[in-house]
Amino acid sequence: MKTAILRGSVLLAATVLLTACGQKEISYQADVQPILKQYCLECHVEGGDGYAKSGLSMASHESLLKGTKFGSIIKPGDGLGSVLIQLVEGRADPSIKMPHGKAAMPKDKIEVLKQWVVQGAKNN
Ligand code: HEC
Repeated sequence: MKTAILRGSVLLAATVLLTACGQKEISYQADVQPILKQYCLECHVEGGDGYAKSGLSMASHESLLKGTKFGSIIKPGDGLGSVLIQLVEGRADPSIKMPHGKAAMPKDKIEVLKQWVVQGAKNN
């Protein structure tokens, strides 16, 4: 009994440590923008199909946070609840999985977007 509790807390401590050290500060300019440029911008700027249908422009931090014509797609601090992350992770309806009609983004790129949202979706 005692050992089980001990092992549990060692594990917990290790996890906390890993999470604390493993996450670097994500930069919108240096990390997030290049990903959006590669996977989303061709459709989500004025003149693009995604912009025409959803109203979402990712041309700037401001327009990205403004979201679609239906409202915001990012809740700063909430990686699970943000529509942006739900779509790239394929957790929404397949018809609006993003990038639209293309292969999913690599996991490490999704993770960068997610961490950026978790860290507050800052314009840094
Ligand atoms: C090939 C074009 C294309 C690419 C690339 C693309 N999108 Fe889209 N996106 C669309 C279209 C078209 C819609 C409208 C879908 C609809 O409503 O049927 C859309 C809609 C959206 C919406 C609104 C969904 C809703 O209705 O709530 C979000 C959010 C979105 N895209 C995010 C992204 C992100 C993030 C990326 C990059 C990972 C991306 N898109 C890449 C075409 C694209």
